[in-house]
Amino acid sequence: MSDLQNTQDDVKAENRIFPPPAEFAAKAAISGMDAYHALCKEAEQDYEGFWGRLAKENLTWHKPFESVLNESNVPFYRWFEDGLLNASYNCLDVNLQNGNAEKVALIFEADDGTVTKVTYRELHAKVCQFANGLKSLGIVKGDRVVIYMPMSVEGVVAMQACARIGATHSVVFGGFSAKSLQERIVDVGAVAVITADEQVRGGKHLPLKSIVDEAIAMGDCEKVRNVVIYRRTGGQIGFTAGRDLWMHELVANQAADCEPEWVDAEHPLFILYTSGSTGKPKGVQHSTGGYLLWAKLTMKWTFDIKPDDVFWCTADIGWVTGHSYIAYGPLAMGATEIVFEGVPTYPNAGRFWSMIEKHKATIFYTAPTAIRSLIKASDADPAVHPLKYDISSLRLLGSVGEPINPEAWMWYHRNVGQERCPIVDTFWQTETGGHMMTPLPGATPLVPGSCTLPLPGIMAAIVDETGNDLPNGQGGILVVKRPWPSMIRTIWGDPERFKKSYFPEEFGGKLYLAGDGAIRNKDTAYFTITGRIDDVLNVSGHRMGTMEIESALVANPLVAEAAVVGKPDDTTGEAICAFVVLKGARPTGDEAKKIATELRNWVAKEIGPIAKPKEIRFGDNLPKTRSGKIMRRLLRVLAKGEAITQDVSTLENPAILEQLKQAQ
Ligand code: WTA
Repeated sequence: MSDLQNTQDDVKAENRIFPPPAEFAAKAAISGMDAYHALCKEAEQDYEGFWGRLAKENLTWHKPFESVLNESNVPFYRWFEDGLLNASYNCLDVNLQNGNAEKVALIFEADDGTVTKVTYRELHAKVCQFANGLKSLGIVKGDRVVIYMPMSVEGVVAMQACARIGATHSVVFGGFSAKSLQERIVDVGAVAVITADEQVRGGKHLPLKSIVDEAIAMGDCEKVRNVVIYRRTGGQIGFTAGRDLWMHELVANQAADCEPEWVDAEHPLFILYTSGSTGKPKGVQHSTGGYLLWAKLTMKWTFDIKPDDVFWCTADIGWVTGHSYIAYGPLAMGATEIVFEGVPTYPNAGRFWSMIEKHKATIFYTAPTAIRSLIKASDADPAVHPLKYDISSLRLLGSVGEPINPEAWMWYHRNVGQERCPIVDTFWQTETGGHMMTPLPGATPLVPGSCTLPLPGIMAAIVDETGNDLPNGQGGILVVKRPWPSMIRTIWGDPERFKKSYFPEEFGGKLYLAGDGAIRNKDTAYFTITGRIDDVLNVSGHRMGTMEIESALVANPLVAEAAVVGKPDDTTGEAICAFVVLKGARPTGDEAKKIATELRNWVAKEIGPIAKPKEIRFGDNLPKTRSGKIMRRLLRVLAKGEAITQDVSTLENPAILEQLKQAQ
């Protein structure tokens, strides 16, 4: 647990407090801490009553539920299980009925700056047509469909269309390699893949369809009957007759109306793969009812979304943030949102600010990595500083995906928030479906670097290794003590792993283990996340399993053994550092550089460019205990470039430390 101690001094030292601006609080959905506490109290006093009330008030049910929570098979909790609904109906039809038909749902900005606006009526029609198209291919409720698409209107349409017909989607981030894609297609048992010919990012065309072809050619994808292709660029692609078809041709003669498939609340809306502490990614399965409730409610509570807001979440639909805060939450609220195809640095690092100016964005939600890289960019080139743009439309900022360091927080506050906009530092995970701990912008006094307090109904706590509560001021393991509606339901195809990973017996089998360490401030009881306590890294807000990267490295014929650890990085939060033992002699000098480059490219091919180690060090061996266990703790110290002060008496081969100290 020594890793948990690292940031405690910082946490104690941070004493700046920013109360919510009075003007903001006056109009907020949850205004003032009394309102927050009242909701928390309601949840504590009648947990099921609280959630039942919210689910009735916020979702439109085809058949109302009677049962709120079924706990008969812990930890396989079931929420609102006898209710019937449809997620797409709740996001689209509901808006046609309540006067939002002509309201802009999506403001899509392409990489080259071209803007397309889609109203709720148009989006409804597109989704229905595509849903009918999918039906015409024989796709039915319960089938799984993989979506491997760029940020686009069509990406959102594809997700919503699957939801409409009760097909479970599994979106794979467009930066993943053919091998990663194939593994997900096989594991989820997809009957179809929806993709684009190419994606456009930073002025470059990058392949998608050819990667799908490559993935399918790797084998075991026999279940895939069709590949549906959105024509984004018109670039050259291979076409397999009988299997491949164009999206525009598929929808051409389809009716703009499609009766939604009513599914029970527990029906899997989606499966999204994420990294865990073994080599194999986990297919996190989410429900329809509980998930959608929280995606919508957190839009209201955390983002205080109002009818005239222009909401912008910069995440990709390939990650959970893009699911909850692009594809579902904003639409369920009838909001107007920006969908951006490109990258923050193209054509220059002022892109975000110029888009905020152009579209008059009012709520902006991004990752600390992006903020840190834009700080650097605007230091280097004052022309791309946010205050050079008219970003006065902003009223609220958000942060997600990784801890935000107080310096980055202050810069965001001053230069983007103009010392006026609250910042919601939202802590959550793929598994939690939506925000867990976050300030409420009209209630919670902010402290830089702290995600402050759990949302009402989220019973977060900090415990020791035996599951006992720890007092405030003492770092420990973050848990959630009660199930909540948007929680992960299972790991697709592996219920045992689900139990072991999240509800381990050592903790009594009923505490949800987030996999993060945390500490609560002695005075305010605010939470600060101190980082992962398992073998998962957070690089640029992307979760990477060290074992996944290690398995990729050892799959290379040159490599005998590899150990991967994280090291702190100014921009990406954590960076991947790999210690590698080759089958041949330990390379040095130019030879080492050459092989390191080769291995980095290899990892990009095996997993995707986001998994490339920033640094590779070669050794004759790795530091191991006498029983042969790799001492990762020492590797982490070496990666940081710090002196080893820990006890190394259990180390089999202490001399190896000297060799691994040197970066190549
Ligand atoms: C980390 C992303 C500190 C954490 C939504 C968690 C954070 C993992 C924060 C989940 C935050 C996310 N402060 N750490 N505000 N938000 N994390 O599944 O380690 O991609 O367990 O979900 O990111 O990453 P995931």
